[in-house]
Amino acid sequence: MLFDLDQARRETPGCKHVTHLNNAGAALMPQPVLHTQISHLELEATIGGYEAAEREQDRIEAVYDSIAQLINCHRDEIAIVENATVGWDMAFYAIPLAEGDRILTAEAEYGANFVAYLQQAKRTGAVIDVIPSTPDGEICLESLKQMIDDRVKLISITHVPTNGGLVNPATEVGRIAREHGILYLLDACQTVGQMPINIAEIQCDMLSATGRKFLRGPRGSGFLYVRRDLIADLEPPMLDHYAAKWMAPDRYEMQSNARRFENWENNYAAKLGLGVAADYALSWGLDRTWQRCLALATQLRDGLAAIPGASLRDIGQQQCAITTFTLAGHDPFQVKQILNSQDINVSVSGPNSTLLDAQKRDLPPLIRASVHYYNSEEEIDRFLRAVGSLNT
Ligand SMILES: Cc1ncc(COP(=O)(O)O)c(C=O)c1O
Repeated sequence: MLFDLDQARRETPGCKHVTHLNNAGAALMPQPVLHTQISHLELEATIGGYEAAEREQDRIEAVYDSIAQLINCHRDEIAIVENATVGWDMAFYAIPLAEGDRILTAEAEYGANFVAYLQQAKRTGAVIDVIPSTPDGEICLESLKQMIDDRVKLISITHVPTNGGLVNPATEVGRIAREHGILYLLDACQTVGQMPINIAEIQCDMLSATGRKFLRGPRGSGFLYVRRDLIADLEPPMLDHYAAKWMAPDRYEMQSNARRFENWENNYAAKLGLGVAADYALSWGLDRTWQRCLALATQLRDGLAAIPGASLRDIGQQQCAITTFTLAGHDPFQVKQILNSQDINVSVSGPNSTLLDAQKRDLPPLIRASVHYYNSEEEIDRFLRAVGSLNT
């Protein structure tokens, strides 16, 4: 597949300054996303914030179309929020749970989500059951099938965890959830923008994602998808007079679409930037992006595997753009700092962000290097040389 790397890098101002391998943290924004936000901030400063939003009303509305196109759903099914966690929370806490109801989740579940399960379990008496993984590391579909009974009210999993390359079989899980009529919530925070995400294929009922990671959008932006015919049944945990209209002194009426999960005040520059990020991702093509991410991640993993003392920590049959590893005799935070001093950005993934998996595999803090399509092969080599030189 032809890939115009020069164009990708030309349109990414940060490429001139850093080797950015922290795309699972926040990717480098492309020029159109940056420009859109700056322009809107300038407009706000020039004519006023409310007036700028009014003037840009059509473009702001079009953001919903862009996101809907990105994940193949309807614009009415999208709520645009501050980050993935807010979107996820608005969906999760809206799900009615009672004593004895079961939530099925995965071993590589994200910390924020698991804390929310614990809180709801404490409040309602619902039970959290963890689906075992296969020896390779992904959710075991056979175990999931066997765990299902009348008490299972929700299957809620993370597609790609924050701590490594694992890709959970989201579509197969969706098939099982659909077969049994169980609600399915997918945390797609690390996958939207990295690979094709098609709601019609995955068949999840709710999905959350963030702007700043593989989608290359602004920080402080995210979205929630909720299936159309489910929206009316879900009352968000928090409402304001935008999510629900105040109709009479004793009555409110919630928005009929997913905007009931939003609230009134917005960072419109970020919202517009998010829409442009979705359009930009679509213009590159998610299949092409995914293939390139896979090729770069393979180069990176193969290179790390050849460095004495480096141990790859990724699990799963299908692995993605995120790689985690440790380097014998080296503190991961120091490695991050040393690399950073050479303008190479990586991050450290601590055990608490994916506690069940970390405990099971006895994981220390891991160095996380996450590629994106705009990274060059030379940058991966540069990173590998820098890591290799730490052990000589
Ligand atoms: C798997 C996963 N889910 C959810 C989140 C939370 O995203 P946000 O910080 O946008 O709320 C993250 C952030 O790192 C993540 O890796």
